[in-house]
Amino acid sequence: MKINGTPYRSVWVDEKDGWSIHIFDQTRLPFALDILTLVTPDEVAHAIRTMQVRGAPLIGAVAAYGLALGLRNAADDTTLEQTAAMLAATRPTAINLRWAIERMLTRLRPLTPTDRAAAAYAEAGLICDEDAAQNEAIGRHGLELLRALAAGGKRVNILTHCNAGWIATVDWGTALAPIYMAHDEGLDVHVWVDETRPRNQGAALTAWELGSHGVPHTVIADNAGGHLMQHGQVDIVIVGTDRVTRSGDVANKIGTYLKALAARDNDVPFWVALPSTTIDWTVADGISEIPIEERAASEVTHVGGRDEAGNITRVQITPDGSGAANPAFDVTPARLVTGLITEKGCCPATQAGLLSLFPEFGKQE
Ligand code: MRU
Repeated sequence: MKINGTPYRSVWVDEKDGWSIHIFDQTRLPFALDILTLVTPDEVAHAIRTMQVRGAPLIGAVAAYGLALGLRNAADDTTLEQTAAMLAATRPTAINLRWAIERMLTRLRPLTPTDRAAAAYAEAGLICDEDAAQNEAIGRHGLELLRALAAGGKRVNILTHCNAGWIATVDWGTALAPIYMAHDEGLDVHVWVDETRPRNQGAALTAWELGSHGVPHTVIADNAGGHLMQHGQVDIVIVGTDRVTRSGDVANKIGTYLKALAARDNDVPFWVALPSTTIDWTVADGISEIPIEERAASEVTHVGGRDEAGNITRVQITPDGSGAANPAFDVTPARLVTGLITEKGCCPATQAGLLSLFPEFGKQE
């Protein structure tokens, strides 16, 4: 996608040296567009843990490059396995991270150490290209849903939660891809952007993305969605996801489940957009089996923003001594999901639905 007319991806290899990687520091957006250079696997792990990079597909792609960086000087079996394990442990919920590391290991284990670094860069590049292509395909399939809602020139009000846009992936985004395409072809789309406490990925990142692309949008407090649905102001909910079970349960940013409940109570369709790299075929029951990341209490007790002097800062909003809990994701049961938008098309959030698009998963059981 473009920033001020220049096309960017969310991660790229340095053109001059050919091995260091660049990312946008997402903890600084929307106030500063800082590009970071990462040169070691430890720096990559730090960027993922601190959410300088975030979003399920993107952390997988960046971790793949982290492994490549780690193999530049030593690529023996111990280095390969230890670096992979270190990167895979950075965040627990998004399955794309483990998927990308497993794919890298499958490619690299059979090679001699001297061949591994070059092959790792090539494989990480493929992961990036495939993610961008899958998200573009998701956009095309999701666009059909929006076209149907826009029939007769009607305005389509879409509600989204967290950030499932191009900076959460390598390019395009998942939930936002159909919205970009609908806007580009002239449909009258408007997006309700949940602020997404505690880290405000909606208010900071989704609003920045949509604004940069000229998509009409309105940021709302997380608690406003149900009210808007009751008053007919939401035509469709589209969110991304960090892990979908084979039965169609959906883990996504904390608060997604409440939006799905409100959507069901108000007959608003609730769609989830994902590349197949987000499906965890080993898991059936999302609520009991998907590990939910518990992040620092300080993300709840403090809020980040820009002060009147222009400094990017954090302020405390709770009394000294009050405890805070910070589960970062929740699970929306498949029964509340209208359908899944994948790179192969749309399907019901069921095992049969997923198998109809991805029969190869059935053969792996
Ligand atoms: O904690 P984050 O910001 O990494 O969480 C991101 C989300 O929950 C996204 O909705 C999800 O990863 C889908 S990104 C295309």
